[in-house]
Amino acid sequence: MDFKMELLLLLVLMTSCAAVQDLSGQMFTFPKQTKSSYIRPTTSVRDLSAITVCHRTFTDLKRDHSLFSMSTPSNINAFLIFWDSANKEMEAHVKDTKAEYLGLDYKPNMWHSICTTWDSATGLTQMWFDGVPTIRKFTSTGSSISGSIIIVLGQEQDDHGGSFDINQSLVGMMSDVHIWNYVLSSCEIHKYMDKLNYTPGNVINWRAMEFQTFDKVVVEKEEMTCI
Ligand SMILES: *[C@@H]1O[C@H](CO)[C@@H](O)[C@H](O)[C@H]1NC(C)=O
Repeated sequence: MDFKMELLLLLVLMTSCAAVQDLSGQMFTFPKQTKSSYIRPTTSVRDLSAITVCHRTFTDLKRDHSLFSMSTPSNINAFLIFWDSANKEMEAHVKDTKAEYLGLDYKPNMWHSICTTWDSATGLTQMWFDGVPTIRKFTSTGSSISGSIIIVLGQEQDDHGGSFDINQSLVGMMSDVHIWNYVLSSCEIHKYMDKLNYTPGNVINWRAMEFQTFDKVVVEKEEMTCI
């Protein structure tokens, strides 16, 4: 094997392993209903005593669907953001306990920015939906989200890392996924909602994200207008 060949092989290996990507201005497109297409962002964090999860999504689904799914071996719905179409409510599940948020204007065919916070000290969970805060509801207190954390975008985990339900999959687009290990101030959340300069996630950072792609998910430019 000549030197050029070795260099080429090394480059190929590096691009497939070191999958840390700056996804600024990009989005994940989940183009069809499957139970096999998803993104798995990787993190080495194993303990979250507080959390903020932010994302922007775009869909026309009328049925139930998952927007964000985090599981640990002891809590399948360690942190789950889920649209319940029958009850027209956005749900935040924290350590398998659900908080329901009603009356949100979850319109199809437009981007929605959602941030959800939880603090184990108070046990309170709050969702920010397109810049508007919901009431703060009690979910779970006293202990952290801990153990091996698996995050899945595009599907809902009914098992640690699997058992997806095709009828809960996301068909649409997703962008700007960030996770922090603390509750963001309302000022920071407003900055995220308005796409101003905000502190990127320290658990998952859209601008330096390591992830695996399963089946059919496309990474593409978020621009939909002509500039
Ligand atoms: C998904 O929903 C369709 C339509 O309601 C239904 O026919 C099908 O059995 C469901 N599949 C699963 C796996 O639940």
